[in-house]
Amino acid sequence: MLGLESSCDDTAAAIVRRGADGAITVLAEAVINQNAAHAPFGGVVPEIAARAHAERMDGLAAQVLADAGLSPGDLDAVAATAGPGLIGGVMAALMTAKGIALGAGIALVAVNHLEGHALSPRLTGRLDFPYLLLLVSGGHTQLLIVEGIGAMTRLGSTIDDAAGEAFDKTAKIMGLGFPGGPAIERAARAAADPARFALPRMLAGKQGCDFSFAGLKTAARRAWDGLETPDESNRADLAHAVQGAIAAHLAERTGRAMDVFMDRLPAASRTLVAAGGVAANQTVRSALTAEAGARGFNLVAPPLKYCTDNAAMIALAGAERLALGLTDGLDAPARARWPLDADAAALAPAAGSGRKGPKA
Ligand code: KG4
Ligand code: ZN
Repeated sequence: MLGLESSCDDTAAAIVRRGADGAITVLAEAVINQNAAHAPFGGVVPEIAARAHAERMDGLAAQVLADAGLSPGDLDAVAATAGPGLIGGVMAALMTAKGIALGAGIALVAVNHLEGHALSPRLTGRLDFPYLLLLVSGGHTQLLIVEGIGAMTRLGSTIDDAAGEAFDKTAKIMGLGFPGGPAIERAARAAADPARFALPRMLAGKQGCDFSFAGLKTAARRAWDGLETPDESNRADLAHAVQGAIAAHLAERTGRAMDVFMDRLPAASRTLVAAGGVAANQTVRSALTAEAGARGFNLVAPPLKYCTDNAAMIALAGAERLALGLTDGLDAPARARWPLDADAAALAPAAGSGRKGPKA
């Protein structure tokens, strides 16, 4: 299965083989990020992203085929992210996949990017359904019970910004580079006075598993603007405070979701998966590990290269779908929005997934 990804700011292609026993082998993979192109703007610029994807997608597909020593005719099928994401970017992978499917006479699988993230831990090890998933990226922050392919129940999501956006926007306020998450993590290591800034506890004591980050961004802006002569040490201390507040909030809300998961599925194995770019953050991982450990949950986080956007997870989702006979026609649409749990999204449309975010 060839998988193609271009829904945000990474152009990616990968080839996986799914064995008869369901085991997955990644045969080739490549990712080109666009950080340098977006850095001057402090966020992803949709038009720049779309053009860069369109210029590189076909070449990258050819590259992974060559790396794996395969030609298009050797493939069983081709999968592409068909949404959700920046629509101009989504089209690049989907149209390339349609061309390959038509040219090589193979099946097309239109993959939901979020399902790719949800299944990503299965790229590197055996993980049985159901499990609880915390998906934390630049465009999404949600908690899902993953029961199977195409079977996910949303327990909560952000009511404003995504966690990655909170990192990116506060980094921008402090004059740290883009993407903000890694920049904040680096800066926070130098904090001399980690308790210097007190930031608010979001949704403290509120029921449910939703998230909110807008208040944190405002508080960080106020703290930064209130400094007379902001310097490196202030930057390090505030980065530490922001990272701690985001990690604590993610852990607290995820703790609630673990309680719900246990109530609903008492016999299930207790696994919490953290996926998405923010799951790369060590402070976030430690906070989640502590919360999981207290409830007898095992925290599984994919390796960093499968936490951030990649095409192996799209090829994997495609391969799992193909194994179930789930393929798509060449009229499969590119979608800017595509909730994994349509029922939950219909019940709480305002609690979408980073709808004001860079990927909206
Ligand atoms: O999953 P991803 O690569 O793309 C999306 O689908 O959004 O996630 C990108 C997001 C960005 O907001 C970035 O700042 C954040 O993940 N991120 C991090 C770290 N690495 C990436 N946030 C915190 N700490 C990190 N080390
Ligand atoms: Zn993603």
